[in-house]
Amino acid sequence: MLKRLIRKNEKTISIHVNDRKEKAQQEQLPGHIAIIMDGNGRWAKKRSLPRVAGHHEGMKTVKKITRFANEVGIKTLTLYAFSTENWKRPKIEVEFLMRLPEEFLATYLPELIEQNVQVQMMGNIELLPEHTKRAVKRAMEQTASNDGLILNFALNYGSRDEIVQAVQKIAQEVQEGKISADTISEDLLNNYLMTKNLTEPDLLIRTSGEVRLSNFMLWQLAYTEFWFTDTLWPDFDEACLMDAIESYQKRNRRYGGLKGEEVN
Ligand code: FPP
Repeated sequence: MLKRLIRKNEKTISIHVNDRKEKAQQEQLPGHIAIIMDGNGRWAKKRSLPRVAGHHEGMKTVKKITRFANEVGIKTLTLYAFSTENWKRPKIEVEFLMRLPEEFLATYLPELIEQNVQVQMMGNIELLPEHTKRAVKRAMEQTASNDGLILNFALNYGSRDEIVQAVQKIAQEVQEGKISADTISEDLLNNYLMTKNLTEPDLLIRTSGEVRLSNFMLWQLAYTEFWFTDTLWPDFDEACLMDAIESYQKRNRRYGGLKGEEVN
């Protein structure tokens, strides 16, 4: 009886989310959503579980949100999975986090392929353990020709590191006479960033109540709309994503200018 009731309740929730999804699809959707997935540790602590249990649960949320974002019609989903600063965490936690992409892809790659998702990665891949590198490269190769949602993992990613690398490459090309210093522009710099093949994020989400960027896409977020929630990442679900999208759709993006009726 109780089980039937719960099932009925879940169905009600999913019909509701589905309605919201269909309504949102009538309006301008954010093409690129970037997420700082935070709060795994606190989720675990609340349940007296080890921190890594929170990361494992967070991995399941990645799967759920990827599938739903694709269904909604989001073109790119960038997920901050491991920062250049996360190496400072205890060895056991780092090792666990480095196993997660492998477990995620071993379990869900067939489904991602079926859903036409293209896996990409930004960050310093060379410094990842061999097993992580192998799993990610394999997923990228196997999904390279898919043209549905781009699932872009930020792994061993740091925005300052990305900008420094870009500047070094540009400086070297100037030195070699391949480009001249006076042609350096925003567009040119964009082409040296790890996001060169992606559009800029339209919407940034950070979970768990923290309100900072933590060295994430500092250049690319210049005109992005931000949305923060107290929900911890393992608890984040389809309804939360719809909350963020609906909030985005109410915003008036002006990119520093004025819109229509405001001009006079
Ligand atoms: C921050 O929470 C989260 C991370 C550093 C790791 C995020 C990783 C996942 C959600 C899983 C990634 C899955 C794949 C497939 C790569 P925190 O540990 O800082 O939480 P806390 O602030 O509550 O301690």
